[in-house]
Amino acid sequence: MNSIINSVNLIYYSPTGTSRKIARAVGDGLKVNNLTESDITLDNNNIKSFPNDSLTVFVSPVYGGRIPSIFFERLGTLNGNGAMCVVVVVYGNRHYDDALLELKNEMTNRGFRVSAAASFIGEHSFSRENMPVAAGRPDFYDLGMAEHFGKEVMDRITTVPDFGDLFVPGNYPYKEVKPKQPAAPISTEDCCSCGLCVSSCPTHAISLDASGNVCTDIYKCTLCCACVKVCPQGARIFDTPFTKFLYDNFRERKNPEFYF
Ligand SMILES: Cc1cc2nc3c(=O)[nH]c(=O)nc-3n(C[C@H](O)[C@H](O)[C@H](O)COP(=O)(O)O)c2cc1C
Ligand code: SF4
Ligand code: SF4
Repeated sequence: MNSIINSVNLIYYSPTGTSRKIARAVGDGLKVNNLTESDITLDNNNIKSFPNDSLTVFVSPVYGGRIPSIFFERLGTLNGNGAMCVVVVVYGNRHYDDALLELKNEMTNRGFRVSAAASFIGEHSFSRENMPVAAGRPDFYDLGMAEHFGKEVMDRITTVPDFGDLFVPGNYPYKEVKPKQPAAPISTEDCCSCGLCVSSCPTHAISLDASGNVCTDIYKCTLCCACVKVCPQGARIFDTPFTKFLYDNFRERKNPEFYF
């Protein structure tokens, strides 16, 4: 057992599952027996603080170059009380802009000591079969890098006596959050009313009516595309011109970055 860190907590928000994969791979690399997971995609975190000899790994997707506000809402009143943490963002091969800086600053303000940071690439939520954007990522290489990052974090925590203020790229004031247009994916006639989209929706924007029709609250929808990716019938569709824009401009493979 590590002499300083006795437990690890993975906390992630991950509608389409890429941040979850990265969180778990980082957790594998940390190699501690006492590891807990808190998936805040559908539920609020109900932990208020962690022990001083713990390390928390926060993993969030990037939305519009920022951390989605729901990530912080779901954390509730969680406070670090001087415990260590690592911040990780997962983005869809365009850019993470100010998201990593925002996550680092927020966790510092919540009383965590941020000891390392990283960015990884996940299949873009708007990626489609005919216009793939980072399709299949994180792949084998990415997951290996995430595990390596976890190992490096633990090695440094046990050998570096004092962490100064961590540099991560980004600007403050952060990139402006554009107001979301009221929109949501639609369900086609191939829908078999299985309800999987209902239970996968982080904002509870979807319901089935008495006839089995899918109803979506366009004001609650965050366009996360969890429902699109989970639908076994391929009946949940979100068409946006942004997919072509991403496909045309952000196909060149980007790679993970680590900051210590
Ligand atoms: C509303 C929205 C905004 C997004 N904005 C960005 C962005 O600014 N840059 C980027 O590279 N990817 C962006 N993405 C893609 C996600 O960051 C990426 O697909 C991520 O892997 C999703 O994480 P998850 O699988 O954990 O949900 C966006 C996705 C959504 C749904
Ligand atoms: S997951 Fe697909 S098939 Fe199932 S209810 Fe939703 S839209 Fe219909
Ligand atoms: S309805 Fe909107 S918020 Fe809910 S899962 Fe689908 S895209 Fe995400």
